[in-house]
Amino acid sequence: MFETLEPKSPDAILKLIAEHQNDARAEKVDLGVGVYRDADGKTPILKTVKKAEHWLVGSQASKAYLGSRGDIVFCDAIEKLLFAEGAEDNSRISTVQTPGGSGALRVAAELVVRANPDAVMWVSDPTWNNHVPLLGEAGVKLRAYPYYDTDSNRILFDAMLEALAAAKEGELILLHGCCHNPTGMDLSVAQWDQLADLVTERGLIPFIDIAYQGFAEGLDEDAYGVRLMYDRVPEMVVTQSCSKNFGLYRDRVGALSFVARDEATAKTVDSQALYVVRTMYSLPPDHGGAVVAHILNDADLREEWLAELAEMRGRMNGMRKLLVEALQKTAPEHDFSHVEHTSGMFCYLGVTPEQVARLKQDRGIYLVDSGRINVCGITEGNVEYLAESIASVLY
Ligand SMILES: Cc1ncc(COP(=O)(O)O)c(C=O)c1O
Repeated sequence: MFETLEPKSPDAILKLIAEHQNDARAEKVDLGVGVYRDADGKTPILKTVKKAEHWLVGSQASKAYLGSRGDIVFCDAIEKLLFAEGAEDNSRISTVQTPGGSGALRVAAELVVRANPDAVMWVSDPTWNNHVPLLGEAGVKLRAYPYYDTDSNRILFDAMLEALAAAKEGELILLHGCCHNPTGMDLSVAQWDQLADLVTERGLIPFIDIAYQGFAEGLDEDAYGVRLMYDRVPEMVVTQSCSKNFGLYRDRVGALSFVARDEATAKTVDSQALYVVRTMYSLPPDHGGAVVAHILNDADLREEWLAELAEMRGRMNGMRKLLVEALQKTAPEHDFSHVEHTSGMFCYLGVTPEQVARLKQDRGIYLVDSGRINVCGITEGNVEYLAESIASVLY
């Protein structure tokens, strides 16, 4: 049977990580990886996570199955984080815990296809690479809307609106809640407002993927789009990840929330979501969700976590600024100022695939072909080398 299968090429990022690991040059730099790193190049376990894990080990009384929804305390806490503590009426919202944001995306896609086998979803060009297989392989028909202009390093907002004006009623539109991956360029408040008008006028269904809440400006600021759409539309989908903001990458913690027209429909969709989970993986892993729930519900730990989140955000913004300043010295006739206007871990540097190849070969600097960099790879120790290397491939 297996002879019918064709080999699949490995994920481009995994290949890049392996190449970086095998590079013997001391000055090598990894700007490709998709995780947060501190100034020492480590992906730390948050102190609040360690504390919550100690608490969990000491207090957990059973490892018996939870239901397909996962931990209801976790689901409730995430719902508040997304839709605001005081969301007046949450009877239209339903949330299930999922294995990471990826799990949420896949369960959501399966649910969408169950509701409408011909469902169409508009995704930004470019978008996170995994959006396409996670959603497309479930049977959602994907269309692209323009999002980013690599020449001017700006959002193509007018072109985006123009493309979406052709979307038909009931079609979904995938939006990145904040820290757009790969470009790092987010919609402004005014642009979200304008988009909400178009979405309501055309009867589109927002599908918001928010994998970096707290990495751009703050928990509430980063949820602006989610809360705005919740106020304006009858139906929407939100996929969430705790991989980055809690640093729980390998523990697989995320959530899928959907908003239905009314409470009765929400209950039906909820039962379908639980059924989809049962057919895919039965129930999500518990550990990370229990950790998150404890941090969010313990006032002191929550405060401490907010400070850790602010520290990560501060480091990313600091490194962005440092790189732009260093590039102003090494490549003064090139404009890299857009880098400072991006959010989260990623942005497009603005280099060609050929320049990416030269950076790798000549300088041991690793980034993906699109020129996307993870600013966490920048440190005070390597920023000058980076700026000088980038300048060397521009000419
Ligand atoms: C835009 C976006 N959505 C979702 C995810 C899912 O992350 P995870 O499945 O690790 O929680 C990621 C991770 O990189 C992402 O960048």
